[in-house]
Amino acid sequence: MDNRALIDIGAERLEAAGVETPRLDAELLLAEAAGVTRSEILAGLTELTPSAIGTYEKWLVRREAREPLAYIVGRQGFRHIDLVIDPRVLIPRPETELLVELVAAAAPLSVLDVATGSGAVALALADELETAAITACDVSADAIVVARANAERLGLSRVKFVESDLLDAIDGGFDAIVANLPYVESGDIDGLQREVAEFEPRLALDGGDDGLDLVRELVRQAPDHLAPGGLIALEIGLGQAPATEQILAENGFVKMASHRDLAGIERVVSARLDPGRQPTA
Ligand SMILES: C[S@@+](CC[C@H](N)C(=O)[O-])C[C@H]1O[C@@H](n2cnc3c(N)ncnc32)[C@H](O)[C@@H]1O
Repeated sequence: MDNRALIDIGAERLEAAGVETPRLDAELLLAEAAGVTRSEILAGLTELTPSAIGTYEKWLVRREAREPLAYIVGRQGFRHIDLVIDPRVLIPRPETELLVELVAAAAPLSVLDVATGSGAVALALADELETAAITACDVSADAIVVARANAERLGLSRVKFVESDLLDAIDGGFDAIVANLPYVESGDIDGLQREVAEFEPRLALDGGDDGLDLVRELVRQAPDHLAPGGLIALEIGLGQAPATEQILAENGFVKMASHRDLAGIERVVSARLDPGRQPTA
């Protein structure tokens, strides 16, 4: 059977299983199984070994069960880096690249990435801000293991990782704090796409009743760890910008701005710590 026929059969099976992008996924799975790029597979010149076809078949079965493609192939591109990932961590999303873009543009000398997961934000920043001191934390010991392995593989071992419930175990101050916290309303999680609800860690999604429990607590803790005038940038969900700006205003932040992603959704709120704020005792 040639490449095209294998893709056609895979696409049909994935479509029947309710996968959103069946043909693209079949192409990517076959390419990955053969160890070549998608364009090489589409060119039809790759000689497929029985072992590559066997891997493709096994992966199709997993994708039919709606396991996310990124967990099946074990990696995900993000900004200019490739991350090794598995179900211990959230799959980094394209919209989170906006968070990195905004913080990188501000060129802070020191950054704390809270809730780092796979290390995506911290490692992309370390890659783009070559001299910045970057620290990253997560409450999940598993996530820290995955993030550290990514740092080593990418030659970005200067990033410091700390296991911490929000900022509880963090010492010192930073020019910028960046976070993609869990922000899905608890009641909405079971209604998410099966790939997300059934496979991604609930700890990475659940933001409490209104989705903002962790945002509220981080913004309360952040002023004690930010330089005067320091930057905070938070990824948020649909419709959460006004409430997030209010939480920031109540905690000594000024210059609030919300930033839209490519889908036009207000995805990131940024603000500066009021330089005139009196430190808490
Ligand atoms: C939405 S994921 C973001 C992961 C990564 N920053 C990204 O953008 O791909 C949220 C992360 O928050 C972590 N988390 C959940 N509760 C936390 C807490 N109380 N303190 C620190 N991290 C927490 C989860 O373990 C998960 O890795």
